[in-house]
Amino acid sequence: MFDPLQWLRSLVAGARARPEAVDVASTQPPASSAAGAVVPIRSMGPGHLRRIEAHLLALDPRDRYLRFGYPATDEQIRRYVASLNFDRDELFGIFNRRLELIAMAHLAFAMDATCSSCAEFGVSVAKSARGRGYGSRLFERAVMHARNEGVKLLFIHALSENTAMLKIARNAGAIVERDGPESEAHLRLPPADFDSRVTELIREQVAVTDYHLKAQARQFWGALALLQEIRQGVRDSRDRVRG
Ligand SMILES: CC(C)(COP(=O)(O)OP(=O)(O)OC[C@H]1O[C@@H](n2cnc3c(N)ncnc32)[C@H](O)[C@@H]1OP(=O)(O)O)[C@@H](O)C(=O)NCCC(=O)NCCS
Repeated sequence: MFDPLQWLRSLVAGARARPEAVDVASTQPPASSAAGAVVPIRSMGPGHLRRIEAHLLALDPRDRYLRFGYPATDEQIRRYVASLNFDRDELFGIFNRRLELIAMAHLAFAMDATCSSCAEFGVSVAKSARGRGYGSRLFERAVMHARNEGVKLLFIHALSENTAMLKIARNAGAIVERDGPESEAHLRLPPADFDSRVTELIREQVAVTDYHLKAQARQFWGALALLQEIRQGVRDSRDRVRG
């Protein structure tokens, strides 16, 4: 369950970080994620398209193969990003302190009338941010949202060699069926309840607040750097005038 105190502590720790530490820490997990607690995950909209594209284009050929099931070219990734439907589907993101998208998930709702309460989950985590539970957290977040949207069956298509993805699915109780090099997992979801609805509302609010705080911190450090540059420029020209 969401712990507001832990979240506040991680925000304070983030706000205290000095700019040099921000760079180093920017690929590190939020302070609390190591303890398995708060990882701010926010839903994304068309305003995040540039970051989504940058995240996916940064995946190496093997990761693209694992993510899309084929070795997607830059052009195919751009087409995928351009075709994202934010009205129908849901996209979730985890951002570092520089507001780079380090992990994302796509919950695609079925368009097929024969399975109107089905959805499919796809995910990618930047190499530098793997093994910290982000993939699992994104899956949990997507499951919660799917439940609240009335989804009964969640599908995950993965290559059979994709141990990490299949582990995430199995850990959540999904049934995995292997068909040679490909596997399909499906997870039956319980109906939404009061807890799933309230928890999703709170988590989204927490993540949006976290995102805005990071944006403000970035603006602040940017303005400070500019100010320092101007001061240095004034100092240099004064020194030149003095000879
Ligand atoms: C699959 C992927 C999303 C996992 O992300 P992640 O943040 O590293 O995953 P987590 O840290 O949440 O780990 C999930 C589980 O897999 C295990 N795991 C992680 N990396 C592993 C690896 N290389 N080999 C075996 N198990 C691994 C973890 O131990 C964890 O299991 P546990 O909870 O039982 O300990 C990431 O590797 C990725 O982006 N791959 C490329 C794209 C892709 O394959 N997408 C999935 C298809 S849609």
